[in-house]
Amino acid sequence: MLFDTPTYFNHQFPTPQYLGAKHTHLAWINRFIPNQVTTALDAFAGSQSIAFLFKQLGFKTITNDFLSFNNQIGLALIENNTIQLTDDDVNLLFSSAKNKKDFQLIENTFTNIFFQQNEAEFLDNLRANIPLLKNRYKQALAYTIINRSMTRKITMGHFGHTQALQYASNPERIKRNRSLIRPLKAIFEDLLSEYNHAVFDNQQDNRSYHKNILELLPILEKIDLAYFDPPYCDSHADYQSFYHLLETFTEYWQDKQFINGIKRYEPQRFSGFDKKREVIASFEKLFELAEDIPHWLISYNNRSYPCVEEFEKILSKHRQVKIEEKTYANGRGGKGSVAGSKEILFICQPKKKHFLSVIGQG
Ligand SMILES: C[S@@+](CC[C@H](N)C(=O)[O-])C[C@H]1O[C@@H](n2cnc3c(N)ncnc32)[C@H](O)[C@@H]1O
Repeated sequence: MLFDTPTYFNHQFPTPQYLGAKHTHLAWINRFIPNQVTTALDAFAGSQSIAFLFKQLGFKTITNDFLSFNNQIGLALIENNTIQLTDDDVNLLFSSAKNKKDFQLIENTFTNIFFQQNEAEFLDNLRANIPLLKNRYKQALAYTIINRSMTRKITMGHFGHTQALQYASNPERIKRNRSLIRPLKAIFEDLLSEYNHAVFDNQQDNRSYHKNILELLPILEKIDLAYFDPPYCDSHADYQSFYHLLETFTEYWQDKQFINGIKRYEPQRFSGFDKKREVIASFEKLFELAEDIPHWLISYNNRSYPCVEEFEKILSKHRQVKIEEKTYANGRGGKGSVAGSKEILFICQPKKKHFLSVIGQG
């Protein structure tokens, strides 16, 4: 394993644009991964950056996120060891769909909010064709690449604002980011080889799940290391408002309302980790359910709720805890990564058991 492992680092993780993604902290987090891990869990995987590192390290990787579009990245890059998208697949995706009239959700909901009509139609057409790809990993790659294309095209890479079209006609902004005026089709074509090259076989049976972590943990077994990167409650924790468009495109909701200026779906999925009134009870439950997993690494931020000291107190009931921290010099926006705030890593090990020897009397 020692000699095979480095070759997996030839496969690069395609740079994501996702609030709180840890691709910029990979080397730092890697330093605290314990020895002798066989199976590792990325429990709140988002863009899958840490799951990808686990896969590169040769671990059997179990990854999970409660949002469907993130699970598609997990299926495409973590669970999938061999399948790529070919030119024929791409031609099929771009071909004129036979069942167009059943696929108008994006055009009807988001035209003139995030896209001009022709781009919205392109998205509906491609979405109609995805199920025609014969393999679930090809489908997952298609979702992953078109969703990433959308975050390239829309200013700030999220959908929690209504400035997209205004910014896309602002010459100053276009100069900084030409993707604002490029067709989604061209962006998709550019990204294709990067994603195909990120598919590799680490000789393990990796799995991607799409569940609330509190429902997933009870059905998992034999995990050596769990990485928890929950939403940083009280600072940009509402992933469903920022990325509603990607979830709507992937799920193609027929049973939701689309509300507010941004047309986010309602009702939202239940997280348990994004609202102050629920988050402490959710952490208590998370740590109880993870009791059998010996090693935990937990990403946190000093602007999150509960505060670092209180969080450590909750953790200390279960584990021996060490804290590492990194200060953000430049804020990149979102999820507490503002300048001066601190990225925290809790390194948690089983508590040492102390045995008292009793000298027999008599
Ligand atoms: C801070 S982000 C993770 C970022 C990730 N480590 C990365 O590098 O991209 C937190 C993630 O938790 C997910 N999430 C929120 N509540 C969840 C729950 N109850 N179960 C599973 N995932 C959840 C969100 O969808 C979001 O992607």
